[in-house]
Amino acid sequence: MSDAHSEVTVGAKPSARIDTSKPHSARFWNYFVGGKDHYEVDQEIGDQIKEIFPGLVDVALTSRHFLGRAARYLAGEQGIRQFLDIGTGLPTADNTHEVAQRVAPDARIVYVDNDPIVLAHANALLTSTKQGRTAYLDADLYEPESVLEAAAATLDFSRPIALMILNTLGHVAEYDQARALVRRLVDGLPPGSHLVISDSTATSQGMIAASEAYNASGAVPYYVRGVEEIAGFFDGLDLVEPGIVQVTEWRPDSGDATARTAVDAYCGVGRKP
Ligand SMILES: C[S@@+](CC[C@H](N)C(=O)[O-])C[C@H]1O[C@@H](n2cnc3c(N)ncnc32)[C@H](O)[C@@H]1O
Repeated sequence: MSDAHSEVTVGAKPSARIDTSKPHSARFWNYFVGGKDHYEVDQEIGDQIKEIFPGLVDVALTSRHFLGRAARYLAGEQGIRQFLDIGTGLPTADNTHEVAQRVAPDARIVYVDNDPIVLAHANALLTSTKQGRTAYLDADLYEPESVLEAAAATLDFSRPIALMILNTLGHVAEYDQARALVRRLVDGLPPGSHLVISDSTATSQGMIAASEAYNASGAVPYYVRGVEEIAGFFDGLDLVEPGIVQVTEWRPDSGDATARTAVDAYCGVGRKP
């Protein structure tokens, strides 16, 4: 990591704000993707949910694989060199900058999350190439204009940007509000920018039961939506083929063993005309 090419914007001191008495979304998800950065409380609810709905493990892993394929497609086939990843989560294998900079070493990535534990681990997200740049913003999805303004210190808003919001919009309880937040973010991006979304969907009783158990745990609730609601986030954008599909079906790699796994998670990539 080179300090000249990476930076972190710190809100409050992270350790003072970390609550280990309730599960947290980033830590819970880290448990599901096989990471080590979670507490007992996250693992306990994680194990309960695995009993209720083992399919959530596939949702978590295959959604991360989708992130990798989407970032690779955007950097490789669309020439995108700038990424704004909101609701980043804890660092894991193949974070957005690692995928994008493997294709385009000069890619710039701004990560945004409001969880103090993600902030505490932010250095692992700041391992930029010399040619590129990474930054971390301790900021809130509910304040889109502030996020865009702070991201402008790293990203050039006269050139296309890929806005990635993966497995995060379910935290916004009201669908209309979630759509409005996405719209305000997209409105601030130049033409040729792309929106990338994936989210868990209410497409099986198991997923609905898992969501109810998570929401009863004291964590900030997570609401699973219908497929048509995921599609609604892309209104006004040109959907990239194959459109809104299960995360395993979005441009799978040839020979990908998970490509035919049915999962309760849908995704899409849309281009701003
Ligand atoms: C389930 S994790 C998803 C992590 C990662 N995007 C992925 O798909 O693997 C949701 C993330 O959204 C973050 N988050 C929740 N509400 C947020 C908000 N209002 N502003 C910014 N980040 C938020 C959480 O802290 C957490 O890291």
